[in-house]
Amino acid sequence: MKSIGVFDSGVGGLTVVRELIRQLPCEDIVYFGDTARVPYGIKSKETIIRFSIENILLLLKQDVKMICVACNTASSVALPVIRNHFRVPVVGVISPGVKEAVYATQNKRIGVIGTRGTISSRAYEIEIKRLDPGISVTAFSCPLFVPFAEEGWLQGKTVTEVARTYLAPLKKAGVDTVILGCTHYPLLKPVIKKIMGERIKLIDSAKQVALEVKNILSAEGSLNRKRKGKQRFFVSDNPEWFSGLAKRFLGQNVKNAKKVNNV
Ligand code: DGL
Repeated sequence: MKSIGVFDSGVGGLTVVRELIRQLPCEDIVYFGDTARVPYGIKSKETIIRFSIENILLLLKQDVKMICVACNTASSVALPVIRNHFRVPVVGVISPGVKEAVYATQNKRIGVIGTRGTISSRAYEIEIKRLDPGISVTAFSCPLFVPFAEEGWLQGKTVTEVARTYLAPLKKAGVDTVILGCTHYPLLKPVIKKIMGERIKLIDSAKQVALEVKNILSAEGSLNRKRKGKQRFFVSDNPEWFSGLAKRFLGQNVKNAKKVNNV
């Protein structure tokens, strides 16, 4: 049985795997977290493209039927350049999240937060404007959110203060919808909600990506329905660190993460 290949710069992409397991419980999943080279959010375009190609080639060796790029930075920066160069479908997290946000906004003001790489690529903005040129977009990077999520600082005075500073321009712009354009940000939903107000719509692309994966597999007739799927986890460094953080992102323990040497 062929698997769905998923990659991310590290541990954050497990938020996408969590949703894939929920929506596609019979599928096998092979995950690669590039823990030796994380973070991608501050790297150059050329480097992110090279890493993404290498990660996809690594997953293709595992006989995958499609690839899901769970990393927002890789989806924003590399995917527009490389997506059509492989023998299997490659989906990213940008367009699924945008579709949901465009549908959700009522006042046509959308906020986007992500890593520096994601925001400076303007990938979200371009996709939003393509679907509806009348929507105004306010986009800012929140670089400290990634370490906060990894360190488990999900609430309290420090993270609230930092979030207040980062989110001030979005509040000022009066956005009614915010795209959480980074794998780690769904963990900070409560603090983001506290600052932006209870009525804010927070778009977590994981759900929409899983739906898109499901649609592609059904269209190709390769959806599995028979037995419970298995997950395999590979990393480029420090499987212990990855396994230690996995539960927070995946909602369950990962015991079998293996280190690979060929990236
Ligand atoms: N996975 C990255 C993203 O979603 C965040 C961590 C990193 O900078 O590599 O953009």
